[in-house]
Amino acid sequence: MRAVDIIMKKRDGGELSREELATIVNGYVSGEVPEYQVSAWLMAVFFRGMSFRETADLTDLMLRSGSTMNLSGIKGPFVDKHSTGGVGDKVSLILAPIVAACGVRVPMMSGRALGHTGGTLDKLESIPGYTTRLDEQRFREYLERDGFAMTGQTDAIVPADKKLYSLRDVTATVESVPLITASILSKKVAEGAEALVFDVKSGPGAFMKTVEDAERLASSLVKTGQAMGKRIVGVITDMTEPLGDKVGNFFEVEESIDCLRGKGPADLMEVTYRLAAWMLVAGSHGAGSHGAGSHGAAGLAESVAEATKRCEEAVLSGKAYDLFLRNVKSQGGDVERMLSLYGNYRSAFMRELRAPAAGHIQSIDAFKIGLAGVYLGVGRNRTSDPVAPDVGFIFERKKGARVAAGDLIATVYGKDAASLDAAWELITGSLSIGPAEPKRNPLVIKEITAL
Ligand code: URA
Repeated sequence: MRAVDIIMKKRDGGELSREELATIVNGYVSGEVPEYQVSAWLMAVFFRGMSFRETADLTDLMLRSGSTMNLSGIKGPFVDKHSTGGVGDKVSLILAPIVAACGVRVPMMSGRALGHTGGTLDKLESIPGYTTRLDEQRFREYLERDGFAMTGQTDAIVPADKKLYSLRDVTATVESVPLITASILSKKVAEGAEALVFDVKSGPGAFMKTVEDAERLASSLVKTGQAMGKRIVGVITDMTEPLGDKVGNFFEVEESIDCLRGKGPADLMEVTYRLAAWMLVAGSHGAGSHGAGSHGAAGLAESVAEATKRCEEAVLSGKAYDLFLRNVKSQGGDVERMLSLYGNYRSAFMRELRAPAAGHIQSIDAFKIGLAGVYLGVGRNRTSDPVAPDVGFIFERKKGARVAAGDLIATVYGKDAASLDAAWELITGSLSIGPAEPKRNPLVIKEITAL
């Protein structure tokens, strides 16, 4: 089978067989198919798309390019959450201990900040001593003992995605629903969860800028995940404004602590509780069933309303916060130092964003804030760039707030004076103020389930 014929078939709108897809994917990993041909194939997929069957085969082939986590011997149910990426999205840090406190094990494999979106690993590593490089033995040990563990992707897991994702990044083929589906899902299936909850962000601060596009991705993730034998929920949530009041690596650890102490901002808690509740429901389904290796755990929660109550109780009782501290300790973090840095870990380079006129805040553009964050040192343009722990945004007011001219909107911290200068036009441009109180968008837009 020649790669050129496979590229031609996809270029002309044909449906590729599993063998043809295997020729490209396995050939690329082994070095037999050169990068220039894989690039051409990616572009053909970008324009012609893939059938559901092709997407499922591609996901499975990518999954089989490496090893998978072995969670056997640990009592489940295992449920994970994945966000397609946003600004101020620290939900994983809050949700994992909440869900673990309710009896679900969360084997979480996360990513790093890239472009305007933040990364869970960078946030966790802003805690002094905390490591996200866990070998399988330690990952299993912490998962069993603390109910959740947080790690990065290893070289052994889905090597095909490592190569394909880097190539997509430089060939303008990232924004393809089947390619995104296979990339995300192959990694999530490899980590061993039986059920997955996807937070598909929609809006200027997200990958998917419109609800329609977010819905296409959510449907593809749900349908393909189901075909891989997993129980799946796709939740489309709004990413017009940054989530919560803090954006920045350690700043978001602080806000996660606030949330786990019962003092989190309403928008962040609404999204967190909704996703956490679905994880409980997903963990409960499948109990007693014999399908697809899924076990579930009866009695966790049968409805989202019941699950939400359990999650709220996990916060109110302090159980979720205790588990968070336990995980920090397990993964090498210095709990006392983290708590002593709370509220004080701030770069010396600070500037205030103040309202230029009186009125209501119409919007704070999450995309511009995310991009500005790259200059400040919150995020990065390349995976090898360093990030800073003590920079970012602390918002005093957000959409809908009534302001007088000169009122403080946010305090902004940068890694140096030049970074603040470079980011400032984006930051001021992110803010729009008008006379009328703006309409509020729902945070949870749509839910698609396959349980
Ligand atoms: N995140 C991933 O892991 N893969 C994609 O293709 C897009 C976002």
